[in-house]
Amino acid sequence: MVKLMSVKNNVLKLLEENRGVFLSGEKMADSLKVSRTAIWKAMRALQNEGYSIDAVTNKGYMLREDSSMLSKEGIELYLKSGTPLYFFQSTDSTNKRAAALALEGACHGTCAVAGHQTAGRGRLGRSFYSPERQGIYLSVILKPDFDISKAVLITAAASVAVSRAIQTICGVRPQIKWVNDLYLDGKKICGILTEAITDFESGQITNIVVGIGINCSCEDFPDEIQGIAGGIPGSYSKNALAAEIVNQLLDIASNIEARDFIDEYRQSSMVIGKNINVIKTGREPAAAFAEDIDNNGALIVRYPDGTREALTTGEVSIRLR
Ligand code: BTN
Repeated sequence: MVKLMSVKNNVLKLLEENRGVFLSGEKMADSLKVSRTAIWKAMRALQNEGYSIDAVTNKGYMLREDSSMLSKEGIELYLKSGTPLYFFQSTDSTNKRAAALALEGACHGTCAVAGHQTAGRGRLGRSFYSPERQGIYLSVILKPDFDISKAVLITAAASVAVSRAIQTICGVRPQIKWVNDLYLDGKKICGILTEAITDFESGQITNIVVGIGINCSCEDFPDEIQGIAGGIPGSYSKNALAAEIVNQLLDIASNIEARDFIDEYRQSSMVIGKNINVIKTGREPAAAFAEDIDNNGALIVRYPDGTREALTTGEVSIRLR
């Protein structure tokens, strides 16, 4: 069993490194020092798991360019080396996994990625629909060495990181709806949930878990979500996109206090200059005008009576009017 597992993982690594190219079964067997039967069994197992692998006599095996399965081996090809990665084909919630890993001592930058979540969590206690093969669900552990009172800055940084990654890998630039949603052609393609882990005795925040859910396609989404959610068109590697998101986020997080991503955040905003409703938990929506985003990522709004407010807390939502 252990042998089959490692042959399968090594075969997948070779296939991911050579996507779209046929590899001879004999050469793979030689390079992995296993029998051709072991290679054949590994291919069968991978095909059964959902990997699109073509097998052609005299040519060998090929992982198709359009295979939509995420894999640890595939993500690691693009991930900045040394970034610890935990991969789950399916899990309850990567934020939950990442929080457990953080409590076990996982280091800054550790990430948990899944191809499917059974209990994906959204903001304000909502759930996040996370079907298999249609999205990327990932969480990154950050150890804050910055002023944590600026929590909204982290979510803003994550929005810019995802936006940059989508532009690099998919060639399209999403817009950001303050503070944590990304939109493409008027449909939501990404949600971000940032959660803090506090040390019970010291009261200090020891870890932040940044959870990012991407809808790559949403063909089979239930009707009530279809109207709101959209996908990211084009043929791109989900593995490359997942890795690029983590790379970009860790890059921005390494110097978050410099705030040099804030201008980019403003430029991508779909809210600045618009009439909105401000929705605070337990209160009636309040009409306002979105004026700007300040250097801490807070949304500056002006109410009809002329008063201004900087919105920062995670308990506030906004809607475009
Ligand atoms: C929202 O839109 O309300 C935020 C959604 C955040 C979803 C992501 S998917 C990966 C991570 N794990 C979770 O359970 N939630 C976040």
